[in-house]
Amino acid sequence: MRESLVRKSEMSDPTPIIAVTESSLEGELAGLGARAGQWSSLNDFKGKPSSHLLVPDSDGTGAVVLLGVDDTGLPHPFLLGSLVKSLPGGDYFLSDGFPDPEQAALGFALSAYRFERYVTPSKKNHRLGLADDVDLDRIHIILEGVKTARDLINTPANDLGPAELAAAVEALFKSHGGAGRIIVGDDLLSENFPMVHAVGRASSRAPRLADFAWGNADDPKVTLVGKGVIFDTGGLNLKPGNSMSLMKKDMGGAANVLGLAAMIMASALPVRLRVIVPCVENAVSANAFRPGDILSSRKGLSVEIGNTDAEGRLILGDALALADEESPDLLVDMATLTGAARVALGPDLPPFYTHDDDLAEEIAVMAEASTDPLWRLPLWEPYMKYLDSKVADINHINTSGAGFAGSITAALFLSRFVENTDSWVHFDIYGWTPADRPGKPVGGEAQGIRCLFDLIAERYTVKK
Ligand code: BES
Ligand code: MN
Ligand code: ZN
Repeated sequence: MRESLVRKSEMSDPTPIIAVTESSLEGELAGLGARAGQWSSLNDFKGKPSSHLLVPDSDGTGAVVLLGVDDTGLPHPFLLGSLVKSLPGGDYFLSDGFPDPEQAALGFALSAYRFERYVTPSKKNHRLGLADDVDLDRIHIILEGVKTARDLINTPANDLGPAELAAAVEALFKSHGGAGRIIVGDDLLSENFPMVHAVGRASSRAPRLADFAWGNADDPKVTLVGKGVIFDTGGLNLKPGNSMSLMKKDMGGAANVLGLAAMIMASALPVRLRVIVPCVENAVSANAFRPGDILSSRKGLSVEIGNTDAEGRLILGDALALADEESPDLLVDMATLTGAARVALGPDLPPFYTHDDDLAEEIAVMAEASTDPLWRLPLWEPYMKYLDSKVADINHINTSGAGFAGSITAALFLSRFVENTDSWVHFDIYGWTPADRPGKPVGGEAQGIRCLFDLIAERYTVKK
């Protein structure tokens, strides 16, 4: 999708895209000549928001695209992206009437994404030419980050196991001069990550924990933790077929933090970045962990297992405990943690949780500015009692039986493993676009990371 955005000056004869409103249409058509007006009425084009028309130009050798917008610009900033699907391949450029060319360009390129690892690449290519004042480097960095996340999620579990996911973390950090370690298999026990080991040990592909850092040790510490379940069968509490079909995306949290890390490192933000990814397959075998088991954890809490399908919070518990040991300035975790989050807010609006009200406000503002929607839900302490256990320090699921507040109780469980860090935020993402919409083709999806990239850049760069 990076290739789909270029400088307009590098194109030979691009087709202009002109934004029109219902009231400006007539004037615009007049400027394009009589045939344009005829063509427009033949097609019954009224300039309604979200509609568009390809018009032959006055001498019939080229064309212009008219795109209907409302008075504020586009009804959706990424709407331009949906044009990609309906116009012939070729070169286009943004002409008049676009209030935010960066957002329009992002929408265009994000829609142009295709996952082509297993198919012959499509030849129908669209390119959008941008004026010199648009920050193309910044847009390319964002697009690379989103592509990193989408490609990893879209790669099926037969080709992306715990080893390959950990290797992706290592490769990304090494390409930017970062370093770290991967703790594999039984070493997870001696290094004290008992819950990562318990969840991942049933797979023939050994569990592991990738822990990498980049940047200047004196800069503010930003740590990202991502759920890396390369496939979630549910374990012994096996998921029914329908619920399992999309579970290659259960490393969506890891994929997203890697996309965000790619953006941070490519733009050399002045932070000390650390990424921690527990990589496991939640599989079924004779040595799988079981309901009723009581696990120890890195934090020291004993954890009663209520359901082996609530595996994500277990591996995150150990990973967050590790991150919390150095109390970073900002601690972010992202995870495809609960079906309940999707029930509450749907696939496009991930909830986030934090005790830090200032951070929550910053996220809300930046989410809107970045067209990367997010919604705060509460870490509602009274529900902590749902996690009470009679035989261990805590149960990892809501044992009351009523299935209340599944995303909140999962977040509360995680909060028990973060004690020293003031600014911790947890994102319960879906990581998948179920049906095409502007800027979002069906498949693996980056959620929240464009917002977080802008937020981290603003937080840590504009300091005196
Ligand atoms: N990976 C799933 C959550 C999930 C399911 C996210 C579907 C997106 C779509 C997670 O590991 C899980 O299975 N959670 C259970 C928890 C329950 C057993 C307490 C869930 O949400 O049903
Ligand atoms: Mn699960
Ligand atoms: Zn899962």
